[in-house]
Amino acid sequence: MMQIYLDSANLEEIEEALSWGVISGITTNPTLMAKETGESAPLVEKICRMLGKNPVSVEVLSTAAEDMVKEAKRIANLSSNIVIKIPMGIEGLKAVYQLSQGGKGIKCNVTLVFSVNQAILAARAGAAYVSPFVGRLDDIGWDGVGLVKEMADIFAKHKIGAAIIAASIRHPRHVREVAAAGAHIATVPFSVLKQMVNHPLTDLGVERFLRDWAQARPEEVF
Ligand code: G3P
Repeated sequence: MMQIYLDSANLEEIEEALSWGVISGITTNPTLMAKETGESAPLVEKICRMLGKNPVSVEVLSTAAEDMVKEAKRIANLSSNIVIKIPMGIEGLKAVYQLSQGGKGIKCNVTLVFSVNQAILAARAGAAYVSPFVGRLDDIGWDGVGLVKEMADIFAKHKIGAAIIAASIRHPRHVREVAAAGAHIATVPFSVLKQMVNHPLTDLGVERFLRDWAQARPEEVF
């Protein structure tokens, strides 16, 4: 069953979403982290504690492979459930390859993936997760969901173990479509998560049930 992650570094959003029982992980990025106040390391530690054993993706800011590896190790030391987000590229692939070596390797999530070839390379280098950006592809008139479907088909055909995290999700239709396309995970902003819950007929239905009950049996409660 497709998992849902929350794409957020905001403690209130994370706490609220976790209480719904639907979130299996968190993804952050430098833009999301920059929106929060205070230092990043204590914030990451707090988020990791809230998630228990579930994964929290935290992105490196370095751009050279050796620096990415050093930074990734520092970040991974903050908590055992951290996944290191590494931007796609030659330096990124080198870093993922080094970090994922050996049984005790650090798990990597290759981010900013916009093509099947990038996804294949990321998985070959050792990424545990690969994140295609659905919304940003749609923004330039390409087909974000189509990329997820093509990736999912190829990963299944070749038994590629990396999990596909559909990212850059902009609306509930994206979630439905990436689930149908075969994404293993959709990482959604809190605004989209709230939209997923709502349906006008649900609200009307609850209103009508309560009204009918109150009219017929105003005193009775279970
Ligand atoms: O976390 C990566 C991704 O979800 C960013 O989404 O909306 O900035 O394209 P967006």
